Amino acid sequence: MMKIGIVLNGAVATLLGAPIIKYLLSPVARSKKGDYAEWISLGELEQFPAGETRLATFRNPIVNSWDGATAEIPCWVRNLDDSKFQVFAINCAHLGCPVRWFPQSGLFMCPCHGGAYYQDGSRASGPPERGLFEYSYRVEDGKLFIQGRELPTPGVRASNLVKEIQPCA
Ligand code: FES
Repeated sequence: MMKIGIVLNGAVATLLGAPIIKYLLSPVARSKKGDYAEWISLGELEQFPAGETRLATFRNPIVNSWDGATAEIPCWVRNLDDSKFQVFAINCAHLGCPVRWFPQSGLFMCPCHGGAYYQDGSRASGPPERGLFEYSYRVEDGKLFIQGRELPTPGVRASNLVKEIQPCA
């Protein structure tokens, strides 16, 4: 009985320990793949007319095969003048609810606690203490790319979110 108990306890410990060990080693596995530095296409520039703000989506580069549709990440793309863009995280800078763009008022509004942002992403009113987080971007071969690093949320250190305005190629 004692030996059977040891074997069963060992099996349970292995089943419970494997995900924890995989979690602890995940930063090493990810850095080897270079996922954090990947440029991700948001599509052709024609999808983002000058002077407008449009919703775009991209597939999270740090994804598991079972993530399905939850790996599709939305973001807001603002085309200032066909040479300068802003790509905003959809998450409110307060507690991360998805913000929505209202072209009639020229504001991003958060449905959770009434946070509001101007069209350039700066804070307008409400509980957020800062403006919307922005992705770095670049334009290449008529397509808009963003940096697929850690998602820009309140938990990510600002040093990871350096904005790099790049001119059109
Ligand atoms: Fe947007 Fe609180 S999460 S205002």
